[in-house]
Amino acid sequence: MTAFVKIVYGERTFELPVIMGSEGEKAIDISKLRQKTGLITLDPGFANTGSCKSSITFMDGEKGILRYRGIPVEQLAEHASFKETAYLLINGVLPTRKELNKFSVMLNDHSLVHEDMQLFYHNFPRASHPMGILSSMVNALRSFYPELQTLEEEINITVTRLLAKTRTMAAMSYKMSRGHKVVYPRPDLAYCENFLNMMFDTPVKPYQIDQEVVNALRVFWILHADHEQNCSTSAVRIVGSGRVTLYAAISAGIAALWGPLHGGANQAVIEMLADIAESGGKIAPFIERAKDNKDPFRLMGFGHRVYKTYDPRAKIMKKMCDTVLPRLKISDPLLDLAKELEEAALKDDYFIEHNLYPNVDFYSGIILRAIGIPTNMFTVMFAIGRLPGWIAQWKESMDDPNWKISRPRQIYTGPTEMDYLPIDKR
Ligand code: ACO
Repeated sequence: MTAFVKIVYGERTFELPVIMGSEGEKAIDISKLRQKTGLITLDPGFANTGSCKSSITFMDGEKGILRYRGIPVEQLAEHASFKETAYLLINGVLPTRKELNKFSVMLNDHSLVHEDMQLFYHNFPRASHPMGILSSMVNALRSFYPELQTLEEEINITVTRLLAKTRTMAAMSYKMSRGHKVVYPRPDLAYCENFLNMMFDTPVKPYQIDQEVVNALRVFWILHADHEQNCSTSAVRIVGSGRVTLYAAISAGIAALWGPLHGGANQAVIEMLADIAESGGKIAPFIERAKDNKDPFRLMGFGHRVYKTYDPRAKIMKKMCDTVLPRLKISDPLLDLAKELEEAALKDDYFIEHNLYPNVDFYSGIILRAIGIPTNMFTVMFAIGRLPGWIAQWKESMDDPNWKISRPRQIYTGPTEMDYLPIDKR
């Protein structure tokens, strides 16, 4: 039986259907609201708006649950490879061994980047942020790899190109920023190993693959692989809805992710912890500033639009800091500071009342530092991890029979009609 919500407006009553997701989440279907009532809704930041139906990722912000295609992220972090996770998100099911092998071959076949693209890297000013470079380069890929024959081929090859080449381009950008020779991808190496080798191998010091580091990177990328309709994913869907190429939609996602309130928070957390350390290591003044609503300062890596409890990804990341750093024989004073800050915040009434807990970015920077990633590359690492999710969400939106171009409305609050005044009468 269909449930309805009744809206009483003026003398009339309207019924709007209530729809339910597979995990019991309910929503009022307002798609006919304007047509029936002449009204629109106003929902800043879309905090109460479901923008689509999706079968990719489920999260429960109250219980701290995150599942990709039904599988808890904790299980994937424990057992799966990043490649398997990417396949799962994009294709909806875990791959068989044969499918995974085919996927690996395709990723290797498409991992090289057109040599002419190096010219771009050489011409970006030295101080350019790697996220700005990555967003531009991903968009530029379309010019180097033009359209394919059929739509199916176009989607499969473009998806593979993006997954394989973005990783190569990120490492290439790092090498060039250091004035080093680019290291090419190696087909004998798995996805994570290959990236680390492209980042850190040099002619004078060949990169020694360390399984601890590989595992940390695998888990980091799996935990970032999708997070349903967040800011960057919504950017991918909205930009994609205008039927731009997948390259352009992903480039928009990278640009959106860059912001410090979103993926850029991983860099901002480390910068904040370094500021605390530099100012003598006292936590209290920073907590006080974060609570003062006249001060724009916020505790970076704390709070989330959906999670009102501990972010399940942050739990795994924190545990990983405690195991990976000792195994790598690294002692990072910023980890101690992060734990002290977390403890103080979680005891504070303001943070308790506002349900503010560490999010994925709070501990992820400590892991990235431990595996040798420079701070300004942190959000690039997030972007490589999020690629499968963006691609899966884009694909789902393209296949949606109820697809519409994204075009919200507004409540206009500007001046009402007035006449143009010639310049000497103003
Ligand atoms: N420090 C201090 N206060 C905070 C914080 C924080 N990190 N986060 C939220 N608050 C407070 C706000 O001041 C507000 O208080 P008020 O109601 O008394 O005015 C209340 O909590 C609600 O905050 P909103 O900004 O309305 O919550 P929203 O859901 O819009 O924002 C966001 C979520 C952007 C993540 C926010 O918590 C934040 O800025 N956090 C810090 C940046 C960060 O870590 N971003 C990464 C998020 S995870 C990701 O995107 C990968």
